[in-house]
Amino acid sequence: MDLSGKKAVVFGGTSGIGLATTLLLAEGGAEVTAISREPKKAGTLPNGITTRACDVLDRGAVEAVLEELSPIDILVTAATGGKRAFGPFLEMDLDGYKASFDKLWGYANVVRYGAMHVSDGGSITLVSGAPARNCLPGQVALSSVGNAVEAMMRAVAREVAPRIRINAVSPGTIDTPMVILKGTEREELYRQMTTNNLIPRAGMADEVAQGILFVIKNNFVTGTTVDVDGGWLLREP
Ligand SMILES: NC(=O)c1ccc[n+]([C@@H]2O[C@H](COP(=O)([O-])OP(=O)(O)OC[C@H]3O[C@@H](n4cnc5c(N)ncnc54)[C@H](OP(=O)(O)O)[C@@H]3O)[C@@H](O)[C@H]2O)c1
Repeated sequence: MDLSGKKAVVFGGTSGIGLATTLLLAEGGAEVTAISREPKKAGTLPNGITTRACDVLDRGAVEAVLEELSPIDILVTAATGGKRAFGPFLEMDLDGYKASFDKLWGYANVVRYGAMHVSDGGSITLVSGAPARNCLPGQVALSSVGNAVEAMMRAVAREVAPRIRINAVSPGTIDTPMVILKGTEREELYRQMTTNNLIPRAGMADEVAQGILFVIKNNFVTGTTVDVDGGWLLREP
């Protein structure tokens, strides 16, 4: 698919992986709407990018914004949705575990109310996460949600084929504003998190965005997950 003149909508497109995707899509000539709760945080963006405010957990608002932006050629969601719970399952606060699924509910809103507005030959891309298929200690919530996202993607792929395509891209540890630590604390956290990876460093948002662009542009790819994770799936805890 040639991106030139295509209409793209990126939920969570104002930070990290979503923002890197927004920038690559615009660079390729797409007209991009980047959506999040507080899009001003993205600062000044290049020409071809418009921002909109919308909470992915507000079903009515998601439905309305997608209807307004229809037709859409490229629909992406990378919106984290809310907080994530960490720690062993047998010690976990179950309200925290349940709240971690806000990511799934946000994605579900985007897919449920967005698929009908994706033009023939277009695509939907979801961002899952490497713990789905190699859950390290303390990552039960991330793993559960990631698996749910990928299961939803595969089920929907059958329903929307052959009119449109849907895929997931699964990042490993990526250096984004999701981590708020600065300076040496930040460097140390990423060092610890990635020391056992086959590629022992945090990935860059742009490296994940390149994977997202791959599934968007390749018309023979649907119902699958592309891993951009530094070899996470083969790492030991
Ligand atoms: N970074 C990693 O290491 C990593 C690893 C595996 C998977 N992932 C996944 O990759 C995706 C992107 O993560 P990231 O690291 O790029 O995070 P990020 O830099 O924190 O960006 C998250 C984006 O989502 C938006 N967002 C969050 N909640 C929202 C809501 N309720 N409604 C609308 N927009 C919302 C944020 O904007 P507002 O705050 O303005 O709403 C922001 O634009 C997430 O699904 C995450 O789980 C990340």
